[in-house]
Amino acid sequence: MSKSEFVYLNGDYSPKEKTSLSILDRGFLFGDGVYELIPIYNKNIFYVEDHLKRLNSSLQQINISPSLLEEVNLIEIIHKLININNYNNYYIYIHISRGFQHKRNHIYSADCKPTILVMGENYIPFNNDEISTGKKAICEEDYRWLKSNIKSTSLLANVLIKNKANSIDAYEALLLRDGFLTEGSASNVFIVKDGIIKTPKLSNKLLPGITRKFLTDLIRLNNLEYKECDISKNELFDADEIFCSSSTNPVVPITQLDNKIISDSAGDISLKLYHHTQDYIKSTFK
Ligand code: PDD
Repeated sequence: MSKSEFVYLNGDYSPKEKTSLSILDRGFLFGDGVYELIPIYNKNIFYVEDHLKRLNSSLQQINISPSLLEEVNLIEIIHKLININNYNNYYIYIHISRGFQHKRNHIYSADCKPTILVMGENYIPFNNDEISTGKKAICEEDYRWLKSNIKSTSLLANVLIKNKANSIDAYEALLLRDGFLTEGSASNVFIVKDGIIKTPKLSNKLLPGITRKFLTDLIRLNNLEYKECDISKNELFDADEIFCSSSTNPVVPITQLDNKIISDSAGDISLKLYHHTQDYIKSTFK
């Protein structure tokens, strides 16, 4: 039997399967919380300042005082989990809910003490062949709430949409609100048209992905043409290339959208960015 992984919960480290929470935690009862997913490459934490900044912003937007993060040293906790569990390449989840409350009530009490969970998850990213072949996606109406910039644990709409895609063997669902692309159910989305890489600009309608930010840094570094703008349904279907970005799979080329073949295999610019990302990770986290 493999050794149990340890997780951090409210100050204690304990085996993952033996760690539990109160049924009165607002995270369980209301999905009242936020989270972060941070990649670990060769024991290093990827873009950690950006992830913690986004966590701070999510907390602020749901009225949990971000001063909480001054009381717990999340970086130290992550390093401790990396060491105890011997994580090399892994993913760390930080989940913060508003915490336990004696009485189930939509109205939260001022003295709720947030629950903080930090744990690892192992995902196997797509291999080179899968990336070169590309993946299928579907188009779906974006019926989520209008605060999708908060990395909230209330993910029911995303869960339903992603499962709809999965049920027909599609990797992702690309979301349209009022006829314009927002993001994927669990990723940001880019298109390439006539050599220009385009993605929707940041707003309340999409998550400010850290991989999105990393890719824009990479795009600038490689002098590729880039634009943040509205992308209509027609432009999406008419794109030369489409790719999704997320912490678990930084660049995933989409070669089929609904019944439309976008390209026979991954496009040149998508592949270039995928390989630049792999090179960056290898050379930075030696
Ligand atoms: N999700 N948009 C949504 C709705 C997401 O859920 C994610 C990531 C992203 C990309 O964000 P980032 O580059 O910071 O990972 C965009 C991950 C995979 C998750 O929640 O597990």
